[in-house]
Amino acid sequence: MISLQNVSKTYPNGTRAMKNVSLNIKKGDFVFVVGSSGSGKSTLIKMLLKEEDPTSGKIIVNNKDITKLKRKQVPYLRREIGTVFQDFRLLPNKTVYDNVAFAMQVVEANPKEIRRAVPVTLGLVGIAKKFKCYPHQLSGGEQQRVALARAIVNDSPILIADEPTGNLDPETAWEIMKLLQDINKRGVTVVMATHEKEIVDTLRKRVIEIDNGVVIRDSCEGGYDCED
Ligand SMILES: Nc1ncnc2c1ncn2[C@@H]1O[C@H](COP(=O)(O)OP(=O)(O)O)[C@@H](O)[C@H]1O
Ligand SMILES: [Mg+2]
Repeated sequence: MISLQNVSKTYPNGTRAMKNVSLNIKKGDFVFVVGSSGSGKSTLIKMLLKEEDPTSGKIIVNNKDITKLKRKQVPYLRREIGTVFQDFRLLPNKTVYDNVAFAMQVVEANPKEIRRAVPVTLGLVGIAKKFKCYPHQLSGGEQQRVALARAIVNDSPILIADEPTGNLDPETAWEIMKLLQDINKRGVTVVMATHEKEIVDTLRKRVIEIDNGVVIRDSCEGGYDCED
């Protein structure tokens, strides 16, 4: 589903953030990308979203080499991958409902389908009652629920989260982790960057550890074959 082949990234200022990384992530996986601050987690995620291009190597998402995608084909990726960030990134002038509806409008979903899917998805993440609220009227945990709804409302097969619990207290973080696992159980491939050791150690998922732009560990649970 996702494959990196000898991927390196050097930023224009000379920082080598990724060095010859190869890895495969299968459909339906739940993968943690871990490593200390500055190790290259966000760089990896930005390349999966084509916010950054690798300096060399190939990145395959859903059988497409996204390094070859033209700028105007990037909306294709937006349909394949839902995203969640540490800072929620909701649109401040739109209600909860409209934030989620907007994600469907940009991929040109039909209005009838939007009216059906938005309430259902808000219900799935437990925030349906607040559909009229604006982001500033919500707690951090509630905002992240809305961001999760937005990330899954288009039924994208992949969800990528960069430190989604980074701004949340531990209890709220666990609520968000529970939702991410529910989403994964519905068949969505989840890739989550985090440096929160307790979450990673407790959940016992596949862990890819990055240090200084290099993969130094790739754990595979239960006889999992990483090379497939
Ligand atoms: N736009 C950029 N330009 C130059 N260097 C960058 C840029 N973004 C990240 N870096 C550098 O790349 C390295 C990896 O950063 P990042 O991927 O953000 O790590 P992490 O998410 O693991 O904290 C760091 O040394 C960081 O300073
Ligand atoms: Mg980061």
